[in-house]
Amino acid sequence: MSKKEKRNVIVGQSGGPTAAINSSLAGVFRTAIDRGYKKVYGMIHGVQGLMEGRYTDLSEHIRTGLDAELLKRTPSAYLGSCRYKLPDIHEDQEVYKKIFQILDDLEIDCFIYIGGNDSMDTIKKLSDYAILTGSAVRFVGCPKTIDNDLALTDHTPGYGSAAKYIGTSVKEIIRDGWSLETKNGQVIIVEVMGRNAGWLTGAAALAKGEDCDGPDAIYLPELSFDIPKFMEKCRQLLKKKASVVIAVSEGIKTPDGKYVSELGNATDYVDAFGHKQLTGTARYLCDVVAKEIGCKTRSIELSTLQRAASHSASRVDILEAYEVGGAAMKAADEGDSGKMVVIQRLSDDPYQAGTEVKDVHKIANDERMVPRDWITKDGTYVTSEFITYVRPLIQGDVAPIMVDGIPRHLFVPGFQEQL
Ligand code: F6P
Repeated sequence: MSKKEKRNVIVGQSGGPTAAINSSLAGVFRTAIDRGYKKVYGMIHGVQGLMEGRYTDLSEHIRTGLDAELLKRTPSAYLGSCRYKLPDIHEDQEVYKKIFQILDDLEIDCFIYIGGNDSMDTIKKLSDYAILTGSAVRFVGCPKTIDNDLALTDHTPGYGSAAKYIGTSVKEIIRDGWSLETKNGQVIIVEVMGRNAGWLTGAAALAKGEDCDGPDAIYLPELSFDIPKFMEKCRQLLKKKASVVIAVSEGIKTPDGKYVSELGNATDYVDAFGHKQLTGTARYLCDVVAKEIGCKTRSIELSTLQRAASHSASRVDILEAYEVGGAAMKAADEGDSGKMVVIQRLSDDPYQAGTEVKDVHKIANDERMVPRDWITKDGTYVTSEFITYVRPLIQGDVAPIMVDGIPRHLFVPGFQEQL
């Protein structure tokens, strides 16, 4: 019996961007072409754009090997991203009918979605709907998030590069703070992303080495944050040193469950998944320190810089992101659906890892936290186990392709206007 002819693939990017998400896109594209698919479409702004009929033929963007190399080095979601929550399949099927009609019109066999826990909710719902209606389209998730909070995977592409940037920046901030002597000393608070998980904030400890003592304290969102105790810690540290550097997660909460960011002049913005925008934590704490201790303060919110810093990306991360994209495409090609690719660590030193596929229903909407025993007893630092875990993920560089002294990104004239 002759095998059914392969038709087309569609791939989308969803959620917060990273420095590695486009490497996964390049991996999906290459594997789809190598496996004999005719066209690889890209959703413009994820499933939300797809519903409005916005997609593009990726072969018009990745025309040469150089384009693929540039894409791997281009931060942010090349195709545009979205945070869109599909309705429950039993409550509202209109949206699903629309999406499946578009997939039908484009003759899609495989749908790959590169994203985090909220985006895996999309893969879960679409694959469930396919089963319900007997559709043959396969839906596979490709993990991505700087937050590193996806269940069942050792880590997520995007995390290693962000962790490398955070460790490096905190080291440079410590160095800068040390240079000028300030009356009464100074407290510098660095705010790190990661929402409710402290994987990224813990990476501040990577600054520590033979030439640097590392940050003076690190506060993860896994433990409640007591402001009076924090103030006492600052006072004690200032007795010993002139410049104190502290890393805090954007998601730290007071014992009564309120985000510290909400205590200041934070915004009220909430996304489609009900997540509040977390910003202003360091600013708020600096204001309290300045008021109560009276020393100089500086708040540094690493903000989008930590997820867009492709100029200092980790080689391990960019290569893994590419492989994971390829593995997602391979899984869908071989008949998997309702699954996500996970990374399995085989050893720390030498670092070795492989991929597997796992049921997306066990991953979607879940958040994987830093284990309690990877945080010190007093809750103000991470342990050596944490460092052993993260260190292999930040290794190596991917040299940017420099043009006129600035890294070159993949840009196709006209495409960005379409967005
Ligand atoms: O989910 C990734 C992430 O970078 C979180 O760490 C952060 O809280 C959130 O996205 C910020 O999203 P936005 O840039 O849309 O405010």
